[in-house]
Amino acid sequence: MSLEKGLLDRFDKHIRGKSYATRSKAIADLIQEDLIRKEWSEGNEDVAGAITVVYNHHKRELVNTLLDIQHDYQHLIVSTQHVHLSHEHCLEVIVVKGKPVQVQELAKKLKAGKGVKHGSLTMTTTGK
Ligand code: NI
Repeated sequence: MSLEKGLLDRFDKHIRGKSYATRSKAIADLIQEDLIRKEWSEGNEDVAGAITVVYNHHKRELVNTLLDIQHDYQHLIVSTQHVHLSHEHCLEVIVVKGKPVQVQELAKKLKAGKGVKHGSLTMTTTGK
């Protein structure tokens, strides 16, 4: 692999602030990111991820909605962790595995729940 010197210098400077021990690891991570993006956009293979939602559990209708959605997509859900953040707020981490389109649909529905403060989907790979 050969790269333009100026580009490499800028990259080295950039990764110094990111705690990388070697340039190879930083480049491997960039390649991995790109491959994962491809996996998620092509949609043929199973992907893995984590959906997080923060919501107010005093909104009982919302709690029911979030549970109903999770039961509709239970074939994608590997595990869930529920954390009581404060008197009213809960944080849920839902670990998912399955076809990217379905996983993204599940994440979209959970995020759209009326009263959900924040929802996000971390897209990663099954490692296969
Ligand atoms: Ni809670």
